[in-house]
Amino acid sequence: MNKKWLLAVLTTLVIAVLAACGTSEEKDSTSGSETKGEEKKVLVMGTSADYAPFEYVDTAKSDEIIGFDIDLAKMIGEKLGYEIKVENMDFNSLIPALQANKFDIVLAGMTPTPEREEVVDFSIPYYETEQYLVFKKEKSYKEMADVAGGVVGAQISSIQEELAKEFGEEHGFKVESRNLIPELIQELKTGRFDATVIENIVSENYLASNDDLAAFPIVVEEPDFKAAVFQKGSDLKVGFDKAIEELIADGTIEELKKKWFVVE
Ligand code: ARG
Repeated sequence: MNKKWLLAVLTTLVIAVLAACGTSEEKDSTSGSETKGEEKKVLVMGTSADYAPFEYVDTAKSDEIIGFDIDLAKMIGEKLGYEIKVENMDFNSLIPALQANKFDIVLAGMTPTPEREEVVDFSIPYYETEQYLVFKKEKSYKEMADVAGGVVGAQISSIQEELAKEFGEEHGFKVESRNLIPELIQELKTGRFDATVIENIVSENYLASNDDLAAFPIVVEEPDFKAAVFQKGSDLKVGFDKAIEELIADGTIEELKKKWFVVE
């Protein structure tokens, strides 16, 4: 009799414990899927944070990647119901990484070119920029031909690298490439490079804080647009295009320019 009771009590206990486990598990998974429903979907964005004011880290303030492109991506994400998670990588590796599915999108001040369009898709442009030749003031260059016999730097895989090479052939200077924009500026300062090709907004940023640097605009035929980048055939393009169109039309992109491009 005693034994029977013990068995009954134990069985009840075991059942109760199992039931409790079941319930709590059920609860967890229910609340989990509930939060999932409310949570925004995440888009992983690749960028090359060497490009102030488009994407950079203000090391004095934090290690967060900030800039025009980051704000823009977040605003587009807001419209489309995505949270944007930003990841840093050298400019040169962004397209291969996007193709390898490491990112969902890339915003890195990237310009659509026929070569790139063979392997990735681009949004409509959100910005147009120009090119500068940047050099030490003491060089007092006035035109490309003045750099003849010298060394001109550019970022690896950028359209500026292409451009520098074309001009190099025409005017007889050598082109040397580096991964990061700050490296280009460093090489200018140490005198290893005589000049470097960088776009105007990024150049202005350096000119503002480096008294020893000067620049002039380079006349080019191809316009330099910036656009968001997707995997080939990505569904994201339609929504992004529409969002960018709206952000241009309602003046938000103008506001972003004012916020980021004021050179102090
Ligand atoms: N617009 C140029 C290009 O597409 C340069 C972009 C460089 N971007 C950067 N984040 N470093 O080649």
